[in-house]
Amino acid sequence: MTTLASPLSSTFAASLVAAAVTEGLLARPKTLPAWLFYDETGSRLFDQITALPEYYLTRTERALFAAHASEIIALAAESQALQIVELGAGSCEKTLVLLRAAAERQDTVLFEPVDVSAAPLEAARERIEREIPGVLVSPRVQDYTRSLALDPPLTGERRLVLYIGSSIGNFDRAEAHALVSAIRAALAPGDAILLGVDLVKDETLLRAAYNDAAGVTEAFNRNLLHRLNRELGANFKPDFFAHRAIWNPAKSRIEMHLESVLRQIVTVPVHDSGLSSERRTDLQIEFARGETIHTENSYKYQPGEAESLLESVGFAPIRTWTDRRGWFAVSLARAA
Ligand code: AVI
Repeated sequence: MTTLASPLSSTFAASLVAAAVTEGLLARPKTLPAWLFYDETGSRLFDQITALPEYYLTRTERALFAAHASEIIALAAESQALQIVELGAGSCEKTLVLLRAAAERQDTVLFEPVDVSAAPLEAARERIEREIPGVLVSPRVQDYTRSLALDPPLTGERRLVLYIGSSIGNFDRAEAHALVSAIRAALAPGDAILLGVDLVKDETLLRAAYNDAAGVTEAFNRNLLHRLNRELGANFKPDFFAHRAIWNPAKSRIEMHLESVLRQIVTVPVHDSGLSSERRTDLQIEFARGETIHTENSYKYQPGEAESLLESVGFAPIRTWTDRRGWFAVSLARAA
């Protein structure tokens, strides 16, 4: 059964969307937070992105897990039993190989996938419990970026937290530091973390991964505006915004933007519900031709940088696995 450890009620979720949109669209330059991508349509589009020929990240990390799963699990467990937590789990698709490796070492493995949306977690639970006997799935609907609450581990077991898929890349360095620090604080000495980061590489490859020929990333980016139309009643014309994904070498990040192709004014109604009344404000947002909304950063790491980040918050690096081309790295570290 899904554990609503910190349920996001629909009213609370709607007020978070309204607050983020008000703040972001009134800011200069305009910006919207990347978490807004992941409504039902956005999550489906992201799943499609992970299978695109240009989006090397998912398949490269999956190949690392396929090659090293037993070693990763053995090093994390040492001689103890492991229970596994996955942050931002979604469909848990890449995790199966790690769960299989853990199930080979111990009779039962408790797996706690954490995500803000319940539907993919429930689907993952059904699939994992059907396909991997011995794995018990306890999904947690929780926004781990706001607070990370874990129950005490089962007696005698150690935790391995998976923070994979380059999810950390969507946070700037300070936010990434705060996040891994919060993860460390939720763990006990001896527990471990597996962190997956995308590495800096040839700019052409990086740009292609976020400008795919089939236009799925473009649809993913524009879906944000469709979402604001659906959920807030805004009147964005998504076709009047072009998808832009550029490499910013100074900041070591891919930036995604939506660029207004003409001068336009968009109305965004925001509802502000107090205790006894609800107020509606119509924001009139003006866009100059060529002005952008900055929608996402995807930071790319230098070799060794993930280990330094982990060390800086109290993890002792154990081992890092990288593919032959040096495109992606997964680092295992133990809470000291
Ligand atoms: C989820 N995250 C790691 C993806 C990334 O590569 O930054 C999101 C994404 N944005 C565009 N394509 C994929």
